[in-house]
Amino acid sequence: MEDQPINLHNFIRPLKIGAIECPSNLALAPMAGITDAPFRILCREGGAGLVCAEMVSANALKFESQKSLKMLRVNAAERPLSMQIFGGDAQAIALAAKLAQQSGADIIDINAGCPVKKVNKAGAGCVLMKEPAKFGQIIAAAVKSVSVPVTVKTRISLTRGEILGPLLCRIAQDSGAAAVTIHARAAVDVHSGPPNLKALEDCCKAVRIPIIGNGGIVDAQSARAMLETGCAGIMIGRAAVGNPFIFRQLAGGAPANLQDKINLFRRLTEENVKLYGQCTGISRSKKTVGYWVRGFENAAALREALVRARSLEEVLAILSEVKV
Ligand SMILES: Cc1cc2nc3c(=O)[nH]c(=O)nc-3n(C[C@H](O)[C@H](O)[C@H](O)COP(=O)(O)O)c2cc1C
Repeated sequence: MEDQPINLHNFIRPLKIGAIECPSNLALAPMAGITDAPFRILCREGGAGLVCAEMVSANALKFESQKSLKMLRVNAAERPLSMQIFGGDAQAIALAAKLAQQSGADIIDINAGCPVKKVNKAGAGCVLMKEPAKFGQIIAAAVKSVSVPVTVKTRISLTRGEILGPLLCRIAQDSGAAAVTIHARAAVDVHSGPPNLKALEDCCKAVRIPIIGNGGIVDAQSARAMLETGCAGIMIGRAAVGNPFIFRQLAGGAPANLQDKINLFRRLTEENVKLYGQCTGISRSKKTVGYWVRGFENAAALREALVRARSLEEVLAILSEVKV
C-alpha cells in the first residue's frame, strides 16, 4: 500500500499574537541578509501567515545609522510583519522598538538566541539566556515603549545539557511578551542537528502565551512532528529560501515547480535591484542562488553563470535560457 501523504489540516490555523491576527500559524523565520522586504513579500504570497525581518541593531538605530533605519521600511504587501531588534541595553531596545513600531511593524521581536560573536559582544542574542533578569528587563522595556505586541525569539538551551527554555518562556510571559519563538536547538549547535522536541513541548506546557517552534522544518513530516508538541505555530528558516511557496505547500497547495522558481528568482532580483540599486541588489540575490537552483539539470553550471553575472540584464538573459 502506498504511504498516505501527511496531512497538516488539523494543525494549520490562524495565529493570534496579542491583538494581531496572522492568517496562518506558518511563519517565516528572521534571517539576516535574506529576509528583506522583496523576499518577505514572496513568502507572504507563498502562504506565510507572518513574516519576520532581519535583525536590526538597537545601538545602530540609537546612533541613527542610515543603513539600519532603511531596514525598518515596511511594505504594505508583507504585513503582518514582525520586526526583530537586538541589543543588550534596555534603553536602546525601548527606542528601537518605538522606531520599528513607527515604521509600521505589527509585532516587535527581540533576538535572544543568536550565537554570532558580533551580536553577543553587544550583550545581545543568546548571551541574554545566561542572565534571566536582564532577559526579562529587556523584554519589559520594549513592552513599555510600544503598543504593538512584543515577542522574543530564543533557544531551548545554551549547551546540550541544561534546558533553559521553559524558564525563559515563563520570564518572557511575566515580562509582558505576547509570544515566544523557541529555536529548539542549543546555541552551541547554531543551526545544525535535530530539534529537541521534548524540550519544546515542555516550553508549551510552561506558559499560556503562544509558543512558536522553530528548527529543522523541511517538509510536512518535520512540520507535523513539531506541531504535535503543542506549539501554536511553526517558523521556517532555510527551507523557505529558494522555496517561498513551502508554506502553501504544507497547507496542501501545489509545490513550486522549476518554472515557478525561475519566475520567483527573477522577481526577487528585479525587486532587489529596485530597492538597493544594481550592485547591492544583484549581490543580495547571488547570496541565495545556491538555494534557488537546486533540482535543475546542469544546476552547477547555472549557479556558476548566475554568480558571475554583474547586471540585471545578464541575470534575466541567463534565466530566460533555462530549460525546465
Ligand atoms: C543566514 C541566516 C541568518 C539568520 N539570521 C537570524 C536573525 O537575524 N535573527 C534570528 O533570530 N535568527 C536568525 N537566524 C536563525 C533562523 O531564524 C532560524 O532560527 C534557524 O535558521 C533555524 O531554523 P531552520 O532550521 O528552519 O533554518 C538566521 C539563520 C540563517 C541561516
